Amino acid sequence: MDTSKKKPEDLRSARWFAPDDLRSFGHRSRMMQLGYAEEDFRDKPVIGILSTWSELNTCHSHFPERVKDVKHGVLQAGGFAVEMPALSVDESFTKPTSMLYRNMLAMETEEIIRSHPLDGVVLMGGCDKTTPGLVMGAISAGVPMIFLPAGPMLRGNYAGKILGSGSDAWKYWDERRAGNITDEEWLGIQGGIARSAGTCMTMGTASTMTAIAEALGLSLPGASSIPAVDSGHQRMGSACGRRIVEMVWEDLTPDRILTDAAVNNAATVAMATGCSTNAVVHLIAMARRAGVDLKLDDLDELGRVTPLVANVRPAGKNYLMEDFYYAGGLRALMKQLEDRLDCSAMTVTGRSMGENLEGAEVFNDDVIRPLSNPVYHEGSLAVLRGNLCPDGAVIKPAACDPRFHVHEGPALVFDSYPEMKKAIDDENLDVTPDHVLVLRNAGPQGGPGFPEWGMLPIPKALIKKGHRDMLRISDARMSGTSYGACVLHVAPESFVGGPLALLKTGDIVRLDLANRRLDMLVDDAELDRRRAEWKSPERRFERGYGYMFSRHVTQADQGCDFDFLQTDFGHTAGEPDI
Ligand code: FES
Ligand code: MG
Repeated sequence: MDTSKKKPEDLRSARWFAPDDLRSFGHRSRMMQLGYAEEDFRDKPVIGILSTWSELNTCHSHFPERVKDVKHGVLQAGGFAVEMPALSVDESFTKPTSMLYRNMLAMETEEIIRSHPLDGVVLMGGCDKTTPGLVMGAISAGVPMIFLPAGPMLRGNYAGKILGSGSDAWKYWDERRAGNITDEEWLGIQGGIARSAGTCMTMGTASTMTAIAEALGLSLPGASSIPAVDSGHQRMGSACGRRIVEMVWEDLTPDRILTDAAVNNAATVAMATGCSTNAVVHLIAMARRAGVDLKLDDLDELGRVTPLVANVRPAGKNYLMEDFYYAGGLRALMKQLEDRLDCSAMTVTGRSMGENLEGAEVFNDDVIRPLSNPVYHEGSLAVLRGNLCPDGAVIKPAACDPRFHVHEGPALVFDSYPEMKKAIDDENLDVTPDHVLVLRNAGPQGGPGFPEWGMLPIPKALIKKGHRDMLRISDARMSGTSYGACVLHVAPESFVGGPLALLKTGDIVRLDLANRRLDMLVDDAELDRRRAEWKSPERRFERGYGYMFSRHVTQADQGCDFDFLQTDFGHTAGEPDI
């Protein structure tokens, strides 16, 4: 351990506990009120365990036990641990969308750290937005941190069939709408699709984001792949506790880890795993907090050249995260990509990414494919431009039927989700498989909160005829477990007057994936006329957090952080001095 950088008197917590003055007397006496003697906490790294647990966060139900494992590690290494609960942001229940609260968690994380005597933190998250929320806040707070991923849940199971989070819910729901599934089967699927603690076990947003955190160098090697209920996950908890204490002494702060190289590594890994489209927004937001100006076009470039090698649903064909772990996990995947990564990047281990990957091995090369035999040669993600999306839009080419890669069809436009829902349930709706379904006012400000509505349901009239995919466009996001020919994150969003707001039912829309174009075939004079007539819709929240959110959230291509939380926004008061 390199303890040369910091002495006990240099600890941040020493400013609370060391001085012989009245304030510090108060702090010390209150620690004694908690039952601690001075030798428990003085001159020791104080580690905050930021746990995003709640009784409604189904993916984090093992956190109370895991906090104990982390504490155990901290104590072993000579630190002092305190649990500091942070906003749970559960994906399963939060309405209108958990994305509304990612930035709230980021603010809370930053302020919990800034205002308390913490020398380092272990961040415990995993359910979709908790990973970026915790990481964004901790980057801004700037103390040493380790991210401990919740770990995926076990494979789903019903009647001998393996079930994948999200993906199979959509799939069987369409079958139920088509009248192919009984009530009894539906109940069986309901009980079997999520059957242990842990995050969604497809390569959805949760697994992509925890892989990204590890690839950024913010987790201990291998942490993101261990299933939540595996005893290895407990051991990973105590390892995080031991390591964060060392990191404090080494003064290994996030700015030494989150460089351009780390962000590029994470983006490459995201593409190779199949990359939830949500990852784009979160990775841009995290990178910008770290002062790295990651752009949509950088991601498109990586998407073009990075083969998809994780054969995990929904982009991959057969497997789930449990299989991915048994096949060697993220370290094995990164080992395959070694030539495309900057292996000199520093990580929380105090060693380089290359050193962390030494000895990693693939145990099943159908789950983690070699670069020579990928699931797809390119195409985890593509960024489109055109007169419908001048600031970009994203699509997952690998998750959509190739017949939509070049497509022209008439738009069927909806201004709200309820309006769309009513229409798609109408069995007599006048719609063909060539139509392009469009939903707007579902972006960062319009939702507000950028809901996951982007996998617009296929109209019942088409489902009954056997159709399961069609071209869909929105300024919304979609779940990382979704699939189909869905163009998402159209920027600028329609709510702020982006060109999507000018599209009318019947206009011809053209997608040309190879050339990365998305256009409406409407001439400029007509668009100018429509623009002059356009009126901005009313906001849904005129008080409270929603009011603040819709006035300060940035557009999708900027990462949807609050403008005032971005690192270059302005002066920070810095450390508390009284
Ligand atoms: Fe928590 Fe999917 S609902 S990760
Ligand atoms: Mg999700």
